[in-house]
Amino acid sequence: MEENNIEVKRLKKIYHEASVEVMAVDDVSFDVKSGEVIAVMGPSGSGKTTLLSIMGCILRPTSGEVIIKGIKTHEMDEHSLPEIRNKYIGFIFQAFNLFPALTALENVEVSLNLKGIKGRKAKEEARQLLERVSLGDRVDFLPMDLSGGQKQRVSIARALANRPSIILADEPTGNLDSKTGHSVIELLRDLSIKEKSSVVIVTHDSRIIDMSDRVLYLEDGRLKNGVNSKKR
Ligand SMILES: Nc1ncnc2c1ncn2[C@@H]1O[C@H](COP(=O)(O)OP(=O)(O)O)[C@@H](O)[C@H]1O
Ligand SMILES: [Mg+2]
Repeated sequence: MEENNIEVKRLKKIYHEASVEVMAVDDVSFDVKSGEVIAVMGPSGSGKTTLLSIMGCILRPTSGEVIIKGIKTHEMDEHSLPEIRNKYIGFIFQAFNLFPALTALENVEVSLNLKGIKGRKAKEEARQLLERVSLGDRVDFLPMDLSGGQKQRVSIARALANRPSIILADEPTGNLDSKTGHSVIELLRDLSIKEKSSVVIVTHDSRIIDMSDRVLYLEDGRLKNGVNSKKR
């Protein structure tokens, strides 16, 4: 039986900006099973990044439940959340979020260190992860000396550190040329098949939508009816 890696229940997020309230996520519920790939679509400002950030325990919901591997993260205090993130979640940010003063290798190494893998073992694993995203020849490059696609692949290598059971990606192919985008998509799909990771991808890329098991549509923070369910 496939287990649920993520359960989201009646999730709401209200931002208070000056005197204005923005309902960014409005009563969203769904599950993600092990090995499942979900694409999240919706116009700009529909709450995609907010939803992904809450699922990744980077942002707290205003109300509702986020259950990761059976753990009720919405009931945990702020200090316990990094542990959940490090143990279960790999996040691929839209803006890469690499450390500019660290090499590609060191950027991945830091992530492994956070996950409890240290020293020579971390260095070796970081190298293997970079090879996996075809950057074995760029390990000592600083982010500023890498192209957009290469930076994205470093951020993917970093997200894969310690084999997370959940991968959350915010428009991972948005800044990539078509060929690099294709290899990133293959990699994400491979993770879902070989490692049984749950992969949730915010995207407009039709190639990702084609390879996903389900597509969720957000509009004004709400999940639209008619969720498209399909078989791979
Ligand atoms: N930190 C924030 N403070 C206030 N409002 C925000 C913040 N982040 C996002 N919003 C608002 O929440 C809504 C959803 O934003 P976002 O999740 O970034 O959407 P998307 O990723 O689909 O473009 C938008 O109206 C946006 O302006
Ligand atoms: Mg966004």
